[in-house]
Order: sequence, then structure tokens, then C-alpha cells
Amino acid sequence: MKASMQISKNFQISKIDDRLYGSFIEHMGRAVYEGIYEPDHPTADEKGFRNDVKELIQELNIPLIRYPGGNFLSGYNWEDGIGPREERPKRLDLAWKTIETNEVGLHEFFDWSQEANAEINMAVNLGTRGVDDARRLVEYCNFPSGTELSDLRRQNGHEEPFAIKTWCLGNEMDGPWQIGQKSAVDYGKLAAQAGKAMKLVDDSIELVLCGSSSSEMPTFASWEAEVLEEAYDYVDYLSLHRYYGNQENDLENYLAKSIDMDNFIKSVIAVCDYVKAKKKSKKTINLSFDEWNVWYHSNEQDSKNEPWQIAPPILEDVYNFEDALLVGCLLITLMKNSDRVKIACLAQLVNVIAPIMTEKDGPAWRQTIFYPFMHASLYGRGIALTPNVQVDTYDSKDFADVPYLESIAVLNEDENELVIFAVNRSKDESIALDCELSDIELGQLKEATELAGFNIKAINNRDEEVVKPNENTDVSVEKHRVKAQLKPLSWNVIRVSL
Ligand code: AHR
Repeated sequence: MKASMQISKNFQISKIDDRLYGSFIEHMGRAVYEGIYEPDHPTADEKGFRNDVKELIQELNIPLIRYPGGNFLSGYNWEDGIGPREERPKRLDLAWKTIETNEVGLHEFFDWSQEANAEINMAVNLGTRGVDDARRLVEYCNFPSGTELSDLRRQNGHEEPFAIKTWCLGNEMDGPWQIGQKSAVDYGKLAAQAGKAMKLVDDSIELVLCGSSSSEMPTFASWEAEVLEEAYDYVDYLSLHRYYGNQENDLENYLAKSIDMDNFIKSVIAVCDYVKAKKKSKKTINLSFDEWNVWYHSNEQDSKNEPWQIAPPILEDVYNFEDALLVGCLLITLMKNSDRVKIACLAQLVNVIAPIMTEKDGPAWRQTIFYPFMHASLYGRGIALTPNVQVDTYDSKDFADVPYLESIAVLNEDENELVIFAVNRSKDESIALDCELSDIELGQLKEATELAGFNIKAINNRDEEVVKPNENTDVSVEKHRVKAQLKPLSWNVIRVSL
């Protein structure tokens, strides 16, 4: 099959916000305990955090990590996680029916995030708590000194403010499973007042308002409109959450699910702009896709879990090669929408629906989805260029006109390179890609990497990394042209110097 692509410096989608490659760590399952933190592990640092996990996270070059939840957030008291550890309470976590020891809290997580080279995307509990708690947490984190809360932070070991810039106003407040679920109007009013107070403490922060917990919610779209009607003037972003699965074992349809993500994003943009027009506002609300991933492999196992354990293995999806291909398509979709999606968080980072898995006392390893995420995070920085692609299409169960090639090019002028990301969705045919760059002069091929040739159900495990990148030797570069053979069912990254 042939595909052509024409790109030009004059057709730019947007400068990609680095935070598009964010991730998420919730106090749930083995994400924190036995994930990033395991004091008795042979690689643990002096604070109890696993160095082997830290190194894998550094490979991913993650700019931002959402914390501490997720559903956990809506019953969490941040004060439980500060001060001397021996005085911290053990609490029931009603969201996941587990026990939270609070051994890791704000200070430990902040120190760890610095070593992981990531900023925190902090969330305030608007389930069981409200305006007062939210403004107190911002004061504790971001106010320099001289007040009860800022001095308490200093007394607890952090002289300097944490200077956290990005804040979520609650989590999935439309969900019946959420502790303190609210109607759109009630949540919108609460978020507006909490956000107002938070910005009065620190006007440099940015706020994310909860959108629907998925586009499948019965209140989707009207929820977005109603919460924005209440809180538009106080917030900067609206959140989107979406997880995908291949429950029906239908590969063609599964790989087309990035089209659902694209439709979802476009619909949310439409609602944001509708409210903007209605309010005659000059301000544009951008999007934070702060939970996205594949999540379905662990559902059956999780239905058998015993409640009230400490750090039980829940949501431990083991990802296969087809999941990596879909994650590649989803990443390209986020880049294609980078004019409005400024923040995105792969949910999650370690053990819980995660690219990194750990074994207690044992190794840490990369799941299949690690690689497309790593490539996008490392090389998808710069300006996303409009991909004018001509390629054959197919129809699947839920989608019409699915292009066999999903692709985008990113111009990174700081690194002097142009990067093409591409997924070939075809099971049977290679794609001969001919990419023409009218006004960009190319130098040498720097790297051509592919994930290809694996069984679609192949997985990585503690002993063997089956699905890992290889070199694509079938790529050539001319002054204004890149030609590449993209294998059937492949994720591809082509980096060319300028
Ligand atoms: O990421 C797992 C869970 O999915 C989060 O806690 C919640 O926000 C979402 O429903």
C-alpha cells in the first residue's frame, strides 16, 4: 500500500505543551507502596524509594505527574500525610476498599518527583471537602513563609515553597462511584469558589475543572456545559478521561479507537467554545486529558479482590503488542489536537494500568506501552505540523473510513530535527510512505525505530522483554523527502536532522 504525506512549516497545529506527556500516580493498588516506594528493596534510596523504578521513569522523561488521585482523592485528607510518620493515621480508602498507611505523603512525594525530574499536578479533594481545605493546601504548598500553614511546611522540612503550578479541582465528580458525587451545578459552584480562593492565595496557579469521567456518561456534554457556566471565569482547563479495551478481540476496530478519542476531544472543544460564546468571554478554555490509557485486562481479576488490604495488586493490566499500537495512535491523536489539549496524563505510571511493573523484592520492567510513550515524550516536543495524508481506509464495527496510516510530524527547532511518528494499522500490508516537505530542508537520518513483527498478543514480563524497538533499515532521506517502508502492524519513529 502507498501513502503520501505533505508537510510544511506554514501549516502548524501548535507548539506542543511539554505537559502533553504527563502521567499519574494515585494512592491505590501497588502504585505508591511496592511501586515507587519499597524501603526494603535492594535498590531503595535512603528515603525508601526504588532507584530502579526511578531510572525507568527518568527514561520516560515525564514533565508532570498527577497526584494523589483519582477516586482516592475524594476521601483524602492531605494533613494525614504530613508531619512525623509515626504519628500519621492509617485510614480506610473507601474508593478502592483498601487501607492507606500514609507512610508516603506530600513531602515524600514532592522530593521523589524532583528526583524523577517531574512537576506535580496536584489535586484538591472536592468530594468530602471544600473551599477551606483547597485554599489551605495551596497556602501550605506555595506560600513562602510567615503564616501558620507555610511555617508548618517549613517545620516539616521544606523551607522553600513547593511552587506547584497545575491543580485539579476534584476528580470525576459526575461519577456515581465518587465519594461526594455532585450535580453539575453544585460541583460547578463549589469548584468556582474553591478555585477563586486558591488563586487568591497564589494567582500564578492554573486550574483544571472536572469534565465528565468519560464520553460514555449519560450526562456527557451537558455536564461540561453546566460546570463551565458556573466556573468559566475561574479555571483554565477542562478535564477529559477515557480508557479503551479490546474486549471483543476485534483488532481492526480496536486500533480505530483513537478516532473515538479524537471525536471526544472535538466535542469537548465545541462545548468549551459554546460557553465562551454564550458568556461573550475573551478567554479560551483548553483541555487537560488527564486520564487516558488501555484498561480492561485486569477487570475480571479485580472483581475477586478481598477488601481492606494494604497495597493489593489491583488494576494490574498486562499489556500486549496491540495495546502498544493503540497507545501509539492515541499519542498521535493527542499531538494532532495539541492546539487545545495542553495537558495529558497517561494513567497511570507504575503497576496500576501502567507502563512500568514491579515485583516486591524483585525487578522492575517495561511493559509494551512503555515504548510508544517514551518515544513520544522524548521526541514529540516542538511544533506539531498538520499531517496531510493520503492513504487507503477501511470500515470497522464502530468506525468508518479509518485510515490505515495514523501519522504526524513534529518540528523540533531546539534540537534541529524533524520527527515523524506513524502507526500502520494494516494486518497484512506494508505501507510505502512518501513524505514531502516543501519548505523544510533535511540533513541526515538520525534514527529510524520501529515496534513491529511481534505476535499481537505478545507481552513483556519480569524475565523477558519480548516487545522492544528495533531499527527500521528501510528509510531514506533526500533534501525535501523522507521515504520509508512501514511494516504491517507497526509503530514507527523517524528522526531526521535539519
Ligand atoms: O485511574 C484509575 C481510576 O480511573 C481513577 O482513580 C479514576 O479517576 C478513574 O475512574
